[in-house]
Amino acid sequence: MNTKITIAIDGFSSTGKSTLAKQLAQQLGYIYVDTGAMYRAVAYFAMQENIISSSGFDKTALIAALPSIQLLFQFNEVLGFAEMYLNNENVETQIRTIEVSSFVSKVAEVSEVRAKLVEQQQEMGKNKGIVMDGRDIGTVVFPDAELKIFMTASAATRAQRRFAELQQKGDKVSYEEVLKNVEERDYIDTHRADSPLIIAKDAIEIDNSDLGKEEQFKIVLDLVHEVINAL
Ligand code: DC
Repeated sequence: MNTKITIAIDGFSSTGKSTLAKQLAQQLGYIYVDTGAMYRAVAYFAMQENIISSSGFDKTALIAALPSIQLLFQFNEVLGFAEMYLNNENVETQIRTIEVSSFVSKVAEVSEVRAKLVEQQQEMGKNKGIVMDGRDIGTVVFPDAELKIFMTASAATRAQRRFAELQQKGDKVSYEEVLKNVEERDYIDTHRADSPLIIAKDAIEIDNSDLGKEEQFKIVLDLVHEVINAL
């Protein structure tokens, strides 16, 4: 059990990737990296700088500003997971709003943004012992990952989960708005030219529309042990 592997978890938004990834990282003593948080932090930066808004997106300005964007994960002992810092500011709460969700896919389409973040992600995972979740982890970031999971669930199931989460945080948003955002992001994420969301040929697909969190965790943990034992 001392052999450390790389676990890539990809899939559609709100499929519970981060919940599963956190459970695995905790159980295995691995590092957990939420790459969506990095794209969200760049989107939040672009919003703050008026580079993106409902009236438009100045892609050139974002590319020019990239060297001044510093992203860092810092482990929070109390919460038990790493929080996202943008230029030394903890933005963990700010990046989870529906507003950021509505702009993030556009920001994630920009190749220069992807190149910067992918490089940082590869650096974080170079010693293995990592669980990384996102859209392109098994296809682009770690194509040689020993275990690749691709998570799906119906758009309605995912919107319902996300809606409940946002409501709990006091975000005043309707279910219809959340569903629309989920469907729009699915479309952009799967149709973009650079690193579209696709299932890697050696990934194991898990549809968790009717699967409990613990059930799912057990299935994947068994897969981890199988992979490690076969090394
Ligand atoms: O996982 P999430 O919903 O927090 O991700 C936010 C957005 O970031 C998602 O709409 C697509 C983008 N993303 C990406 O393009 N590549 C990744 N590896 C992770 C996220």
